[in-house]
Amino acid sequence: MEKITSVLCSAMDGGKLVKIVFAGKKKKSLEYKKVILRPVTIKGEYMCQAEFHYDKKVIHKNIPYYEAVDFAGDLIRNDFKQINILTEDEDIQILASKPDNPKITYQETSRNIGSIQHDRKKQYIIPDGEPCDFLIKLGVMSEDGKVVQKHYSKFRQINRFLEITDDSFESLPTQGTIRIIDFGCGKSYLTFALYYYLKLMKKRDVEIVGLDLKEDVIRFCNDIAVDLGYDDLKFITGDIADYESDGADMVVTLHACDTATDFALINAVKWHSKVILSVPCCQHELFPQIKNPVNQPILKHGIIKDKFTELLTDGLRGLKLEEAGYHVSMIEFTSLEHTSKNIMIKAVLPKSKDMTSIKKASEEYRALRDFYNVKPSCEKIGTISP
Ligand SMILES: C[S@@+](CC[C@H](N)C(=O)[O-])C[C@H]1O[C@@H](n2cnc3c(N)ncnc32)[C@H](O)[C@@H]1O
Repeated sequence: MEKITSVLCSAMDGGKLVKIVFAGKKKKSLEYKKVILRPVTIKGEYMCQAEFHYDKKVIHKNIPYYEAVDFAGDLIRNDFKQINILTEDEDIQILASKPDNPKITYQETSRNIGSIQHDRKKQYIIPDGEPCDFLIKLGVMSEDGKVVQKHYSKFRQINRFLEITDDSFESLPTQGTIRIIDFGCGKSYLTFALYYYLKLMKKRDVEIVGLDLKEDVIRFCNDIAVDLGYDDLKFITGDIADYESDGADMVVTLHACDTATDFALINAVKWHSKVILSVPCCQHELFPQIKNPVNQPILKHGIIKDKFTELLTDGLRGLKLEEAGYHVSMIEFTSLEHTSKNIMIKAVLPKSKDMTSIKKASEEYRALRDFYNVKPSCEKIGTISP
């Protein structure tokens, strides 16, 4: 599928996609016989619309543009073996009865491109085609600003993360220095992106810290920050659970494993952080604990219990944050090509507390926790005094 994904990425990210037609059903039992995917703008948002053609009806589904490559990939893997990609410049045909060994042909287009809208190009916060120092340093972009094809999904993820940050921007302090900590920063693509966005694009004073257990990774990130002259970005080695600080206005924790996410949330609430962006992963803690006779008939299947554990863990975390007074939303982070860990817990601290909602969340949390007989680490998330 790698070759196909690469062709899809360049067709979709170049801003010149006209449509993709999926045909040639792999299974007779498939109810729709063709799917057409087109870029559309809905209420100002750039999206893709999928048209499912059944025998006697056509059904439409709108998909966020950043998910369209994954959506197309699933159709090719599971449903269709012939794919025609029409762009403003060329027609690409993919014969994919074997997705790992596809036959791909290219032909210059004969269409009149004058009729095609030109405002379709996805407006990324960091655009493809404009040199961006940290992306060049991390190998995501070439020196001339072109995104390296194999890093397109990382490029999209970075931009998606910045869009979410942008949505939360007004909840951050409007004056002075914005203090941010990224717990479990790893190779820190997103930490560098935050710095670039807030300091260089938004011209705000920032102090950003990335924390991770891995010394070698921290050394690597500090070297890059120094090379780039990102003076207010520091990386330190340490465990989230032991981390001591005066606080942070924003706490980020992306794919920190299992209960590491809880320690990050506990710290964030202790500091009354204004914005929390957390994408949990590896939620194993509750797996051996969950006991519930009503659910037992489905939870006896390990794979279902595993997925259910993820949802219960994050649902309880969300309620605990609401109990602390946060406005919580669960949003979809960019579809990562190789992982389904894409639910983001976004929590924003409002200016005033709504005691009715807090009481309700508290009751709901306890009821849910007791129903499943669990003791989650998020229980230690504190409250915020009025
Ligand atoms: C999957 S990586 C994610 C990296 C980055 N946040 C991202 O999303 O690209 C998870 C990182 O969390 C770090 N980590 C896990 N548990 C931690 C803990 N208790 N304290 C600090 N870092 C931790 C790991 O070392 C690893 O680098």
